Amino acid sequence: MSGLRRRSLLAAGGTAATAGLLGTGPVQAQALPRTAGAATGAGAAARRPGPYDDKVRALLARMTLEEKLGQLQQLPWTYNTGPGGPGTKEVEQAARQGRLGSVLNIFGARTTNALQKIAVEESRLGVPLLFGLDVIHGFWTTFPIPLAQAAGFDPRVAARDAEVSAKEARSNGVHWTFAPMMDVTHEPRWGRIAEGNGEDPYLTAAFAAAKVRAYQGADLSAADRIAACAKHFVAYGGAEGGRDYNTVDVSEARLRNLYLPPFRAAVDAGVATVMASFNTIGGVPAHANPRTLTDILKQEWSFDGMVVSDWNGVQELIPHGVAQDGAQAARLALRAGVDMEMTSTTMVTYGKRLVREGKISEQRVDDAVSRILRLKFALGLFARPYVDEGREIGAPTPEARAAARSAAARSMVLLKNEKGVLPVGRSVGAIAVVGPFGDSGDLLGTWVLPPAAQRFPAVTVLDAVRKAVPGGTVRYERGVAAEGDDISGIPAAVAAARSAGMTFVVVGEPAALSGEAAARSDIGLPGAQEKLIEAIARTGRPFAVVLVNGRPLTVGGWLDRAPAVLEAWHPGIEAGNAIADVLFGRVNPGGKLPVSFPRAVGQIPIHYNHENTGRPYDPDDKFTSKYLDLPDGPQFPFGHGLSYTTFRTGPPALSRDRIPVDALRRGGTVEVAATVTNTGPRPGDEVVQLYVHDRAAALAQPVRRLRGFRRVTLAPGGSRTVRFRLGAEDLGFFTHDPHGEFLLEPGAIDIYVGDSSAAEGRCTLSVT
Ligand code: BGC
Repeated sequence: MSGLRRRSLLAAGGTAATAGLLGTGPVQAQALPRTAGAATGAGAAARRPGPYDDKVRALLARMTLEEKLGQLQQLPWTYNTGPGGPGTKEVEQAARQGRLGSVLNIFGARTTNALQKIAVEESRLGVPLLFGLDVIHGFWTTFPIPLAQAAGFDPRVAARDAEVSAKEARSNGVHWTFAPMMDVTHEPRWGRIAEGNGEDPYLTAAFAAAKVRAYQGADLSAADRIAACAKHFVAYGGAEGGRDYNTVDVSEARLRNLYLPPFRAAVDAGVATVMASFNTIGGVPAHANPRTLTDILKQEWSFDGMVVSDWNGVQELIPHGVAQDGAQAARLALRAGVDMEMTSTTMVTYGKRLVREGKISEQRVDDAVSRILRLKFALGLFARPYVDEGREIGAPTPEARAAARSAAARSMVLLKNEKGVLPVGRSVGAIAVVGPFGDSGDLLGTWVLPPAAQRFPAVTVLDAVRKAVPGGTVRYERGVAAEGDDISGIPAAVAAARSAGMTFVVVGEPAALSGEAAARSDIGLPGAQEKLIEAIARTGRPFAVVLVNGRPLTVGGWLDRAPAVLEAWHPGIEAGNAIADVLFGRVNPGGKLPVSFPRAVGQIPIHYNHENTGRPYDPDDKFTSKYLDLPDGPQFPFGHGLSYTTFRTGPPALSRDRIPVDALRRGGTVEVAATVTNTGPRPGDEVVQLYVHDRAAALAQPVRRLRGFRRVTLAPGGSRTVRFRLGAEDLGFFTHDPHGEFLLEPGAIDIYVGDSSAAEGRCTLSVT
C-alpha cells in the first residue's frame, strides 16, 4: 500500500481540534534542525512576538546573572505555616536576595501577601513571586478524583471542577496549579491512575483541554483564574510493572499516538506550563531529555510557556545514573529544556559556573527566565502582586458543593444491576449500611489539601442515606476494617442485613492506596472486605455493593453473587449525598468506564486499544493469544456502564462510503450518524461512543480507537440522532518517524458506534 505521507502537528481532542486543523489546513512542522536548540542549549524556536516582550526584555537587561538564576528556583513552603514560621526563614531570605522565582505548597491570602511583600519591597528589582500548589481536584471543594471525572464522559465535569478550584485557589493567593495530570496509562497497579483520565488518549485529551481552558479562562490576570500545568511530560504512565517512578521504554509510534496527544491538546488550549516527569524513556530521564522537552514541545509544537521540573527531579538525575553531580544535573536539565527547578537547587548553585565555563549559554538562561517572567506578567503580578485579603474564600460555597455533588453523581458507573435491585424505593423498609466506608469521610481521594481534608471531609454515606429516608430505620455495621484480616465484625453486619429490606455494602480503597507512590501488586479489595460481601450474599437478602476506589479493581469471585454494583470512585466532598442520589434514583447513573477492569492482575496490561496479534483469540484454537486459566478480555470493558433505563443504538450510517486521501488532506470530513433511543421506563443518559479500526495499515493499528463520544439525556421513548465528523486526524496515525510524520493511507476503516468499546454496530469507510 503506497502511503501518502505528510508532516503534521495534529492534535487529538475532538471537534475543536478537528475544526482548527481542517479550517487552516495541515500545519507543517517547522523547518528547524530537530536538535539544534538542545545541542546549543539555545532553547525554543523563534517565537511570534507576544504582549509582554518589551517589558521582559527591559527587565532582563537589568538583571544580574545571579538574579536570573534566582528566577529559575522554586522552593517549598510548608502548607500551614504562617509568615516567619518554622522552615520559612530560608525561603524569605532567598526572596529578599532576589534568588527565588517561585514557591510551592503555600496558600492563604495573608501568608502569600506577607511573603510577596518581601520579594516586591525588599529585593533589588522587586520581581514578584509565583505561588504554585497542587490543586488537583479541588481546593476547599473537593470534586471527584480525575479518573472518576473521566467516567462522566463529559469534559464539562472537569471544567466545572477547574472553575471552582481556580476561584477558591486564586482568592487564597495561589497563582498556579500543578494540574491537569494527563498521563494515559495501561497500568491499574499504578496509584497515579487516580489522577489522570484513564487508558485512552482521545478522552484524556478532551478532558485536558477542557480543564486547561477552565483554569486559565481568557485572562490569566483575572481574580478567579490560575495558570495550569500539563503534567507529567511524558509517558510517566508507562511505568514498568505499574511501580511508581519506574523505567519506561516506548516506541516512537506509541509515544506519539498514546502519550503525547493529551499534551498536544493542552498546548493547543494554551496551557501556561508543563512539568517534566520522573521516568526515563529509553534510558533518558525526562528531566534530561532534549528531544521531548525542546525538540517536540518547544520547537515542533511552538510551546512558549515554562517547563517546571518535578519535585527534586533535577537532583534525581544523579541517582538515575546520568549525572555525576549537581553541576552536571543542572547542565543536563537546562540544556534539555527545564526552565524552573522545583525544590532542588542545582541551577541556582552551579548556574554561574556553568555559564562561565561555556557549558550553558547565557542565552539559554535568558530564554528560561523570559518564559517565567512572561507568565508573571500574564498573571498580572507586576501590576497587582497582592491578593485581596478581604475576599479570601475560606470554605466551600453552597453552589460549589452543588457542583461537586452533581459532578460526583455524573461520574458514577453502574457496573451491574440484576432484576432492577437499584434504584431503591423509599418504601423498601429498613436499610442496612455496612462496610468500612459506609460511615467514613475518607472518600475524598488522593491529593487533597491537608486542611481541606480536616475541615471539609466527605459527607458520609450513612448520613446521606439517613437524610434520604427521613424517619426510616437505617442501621450501620462496619463488618470489617478497610485493611487487615479481622472478621469479628461480620456477624453483626450479617444480622443488620437480615433485618433489612436493603443493604448497601460500601467497600473500597482508602485514599492513601492510590495517588503518588501508591502502587499495589494486588488490586482486589484490600483486607477482608470480600469476605464481608460474601457473608452478606449468603443472607439471600437484597443488597448492592458500592465501590469507592482510586483505580480499577479486580472484582473477583464475589461479583457473581452481588445483584448490583455501583462504581462510585472517590467522589469528593459530597460523596455520600451523590451516592445516595444514585442509589435512590434521584440521579440515573450514566457514567462509563474510562479504563478496563481486569479479571486478574496477571492480565495486566489489558486495555481496549491494543493491537491484534497474528493469532487473535479463538477459544477453539489453542495456538491463539490467550491465558489458559482465564476467559478472554477484561471483566468490564472500557466504555461500559449501565443505566436504570435501557437504550438502543441503531446502526451507524456514513454520509459517504468513500473519501479520497487528498480530500481528507484538504480538510474533507465524513459524517457518521447513529440514532439512540431510550427504550426503558425512565429518563436517563447514554454515552454514544465511536471507535475506528484501520484494517490494514503500515503499522498494526489498535483493534479500536475512540474518536468520538457524546453524552445525551433522553426521556422514555425519546430518540436522538448523534452525528460525528471524522477527518484526517481521526483516520491516520503517527509512525516511528522522529520528526512526527503523520500517515494517512488508503484502505478500509471500520467504524463502530455504540454504548461501549465492545459496540457491535459497524459501517466501513473506504479511504481511496
Ligand atoms: C509530583 C507532582 C507534584 C509535585 C509537587 C511531585 O512529587 O510528582 O505531580 O505536582 O510533587 O507537589
